[in-house]
Amino acid sequence: MKHLISMADLSPENLIDILDIAETQKQMRLRGKNNDSLKNKSLAMIFEKSSTRTRVSFEVAMSDLGGHSLYLNYNDIQIGRGETIEDTSKVLSRYVHGICARVNNHNTVLELARNSNIPVINALSDIEHPCQTLADMLTIKEYKKKFCGLKLAWIGDGNNVCNSTIIGCALLGIDIHVACPKGYEPRKQIVDKARSIGGVVEITNDAYEAALNADILYTDVWVSMGEEEEKLNRLNAFSSYQINSDIVNKANNDVIVMHCLPAHRGEEITAEVIDGPHSVVFDQAENRLHAQKALLIKLMC
Ligand code: CP
Ligand code: NVA
Repeated sequence: MKHLISMADLSPENLIDILDIAETQKQMRLRGKNNDSLKNKSLAMIFEKSSTRTRVSFEVAMSDLGGHSLYLNYNDIQIGRGETIEDTSKVLSRYVHGICARVNNHNTVLELARNSNIPVINALSDIEHPCQTLADMLTIKEYKKKFCGLKLAWIGDGNNVCNSTIIGCALLGIDIHVACPKGYEPRKQIVDKARSIGGVVEITNDAYEAALNADILYTDVWVSMGEEEEKLNRLNAFSSYQINSDIVNKANNDVIVMHCLPAHRGEEITAEVIDGPHSVVFDQAENRLHAQKALLIKLMC
């Protein structure tokens, strides 16, 4: 494992190992202890899109591990003026020990990886958000104490977070049921990949069918970054794919409700549910820090 571009870059063993390291890191932080695993190491963080959780958790992770991070807004570096991704990657490889990149186009992060001799991490693309899935699997482990045989219902857009969740579920033996309107399904290559590694992936247009007896309900925004022009069409298309009390009532009594955040209360999820007793969204957000520390240790030590 050299880079993390897609969840499909991980074997089940890699993923379990990352979760184990994340748990140790979490315990250490709770006890007020850090370590110097990444002393004298630097991470370049290229962002073409906004971020709260990803940016802050990577920066804090590097600092807690004794390393250093450089936030590089794409408009402030020469990529914004037309320098190639290839040259940027080769140059950064001479200075730093890892690159994470949040990009508009998945090909950008692939191109960074192809031209670097240091690890490259996908910090969200239009196709995947693997760092989110690492934190989500840690959260599921904490609440459910197992993976195999769980049912996760994804209600809403078959987007980047959904794609990474599908592969993450396949790697760990969680059955995933995706309920989305026609035309907003997850990518076929992702579903095929998940099934090829033994994952159970069901796609339906019926949110209630997906939610029935679910252990985990998950949703994400109806309008992702870069899709703002489609907003009206999307709000219409997704209006019957909201996680609300009716959907929660179809799921198991001990269901956990997940959302990668940022959330739009009243659209993909009601305030009552996201701020209610089943919600684990702030644990997910916290776990971004611990899971990414584990990933950085795996890739950069
Ligand atoms: N979930 C997530 O990636 O949040 P940010 O966009 O704030 O980084
Ligand atoms: N699907 C969302 C996730 C944000 C973390 C987006 O791409 O904007």
